[in-house]
Amino acid sequence: MATIGELLRTGTTRLSASGSESARLDAELLLGWAVGAERTEVIAHSEAYVGSDSAATFEAALVRREAGEPVAYIRGVKEFHGMAFAVDRRVLIPRPETELLVSEAERDVAWRLTSAPRPAGTPDVRVIDVGTGSGAIAIALASLLRRRRMLHEVTVMAVDCSADSLNLARENAVGHAVADAVTFAQADLLPATEPPFDLILANLPYIPSAEIDSLPIAASFEPRLALDGGPDGLLVVRRLLEALPEALAPAGAALIEIGFDQGPAVEAAAAALPGEWRCWIQPDLSGKPRLAHVERAAAARRSSGR
Ligand SMILES: C[S@@+](CC[C@H](N)C(=O)[O-])C[C@H]1O[C@@H](n2cnc3c(N)ncnc32)[C@H](O)[C@@H]1O
Repeated sequence: MATIGELLRTGTTRLSASGSESARLDAELLLGWAVGAERTEVIAHSEAYVGSDSAATFEAALVRREAGEPVAYIRGVKEFHGMAFAVDRRVLIPRPETELLVSEAERDVAWRLTSAPRPAGTPDVRVIDVGTGSGAIAIALASLLRRRRMLHEVTVMAVDCSADSLNLARENAVGHAVADAVTFAQADLLPATEPPFDLILANLPYIPSAEIDSLPIAASFEPRLALDGGPDGLLVVRRLLEALPEALAPAGAALIEIGFDQGPAVEAAAAALPGEWRCWIQPDLSGKPRLAHVERAAAARRSSGR
């Protein structure tokens, strides 16, 4: 029987040899998952012996990771905005940079609910997450708003063109106790029959097609539909921008995640929309341009106190 310390050492050596740049961390996460313990417990108990079933589970996980499969798919879970989301090959693994979109959406909704009196009968704030994947954005937002006792004044919808991803997103909504508050639907971008939205959130595919094959091998396990943004990466994002004049309420806003070098092209696409629009690009925590805020110029003046 091997100890935790021994398995971590051999696992780290093997994963490092297979090209993982986070071999020790990967081994700790996978061994923790195999023995049913937190990573911190694994680190703290290197002398403990690992049973043969757990060792076999760890060995199988190592083989998958050596082949390039992301740790999140092997463990079946990914942390996002402090919450654990079930993930598998049906959905993109939520990225840390997308947490910015959720924080900004929470801020925007809170502003809409508190910046002016809301007499009885005021309609709900209507939010849609377009291209929801695992449901990470819509579910994290709904959970945050529920904690702030604001969710009862908000309608949250989440759409994806992939039925597979919607099935997993619905499971995540149940897991986070917001299945009653998030409506899921299959649609190509925005559902045609819905009235305008106050807030449109989107992390759509934005990688240029020609760059997909040169991404790290882990990305080859993710759905191409979640990554491939066409020739310049902005095919789907541009279609969403073109839909905004119809789909956004007069004082509505869209928050759209983009690639770090796509800001000027997105600003140009927003400027070409009929009417007057304001678009600005917010950097993520690493300072890279990441989140496009798009709204009507008139709405921007009204909300200049934000
Ligand atoms: C980059 S992933 C983002 C998933 C999730 N929002 C996140 O942040 O983790 C893009 C998602 O958009 C979906 N998608 C791609 N094209 C779409 C379209 N035309 N209409 C609706 N969803 C689309 C994909 O199926 C995928 O789930």
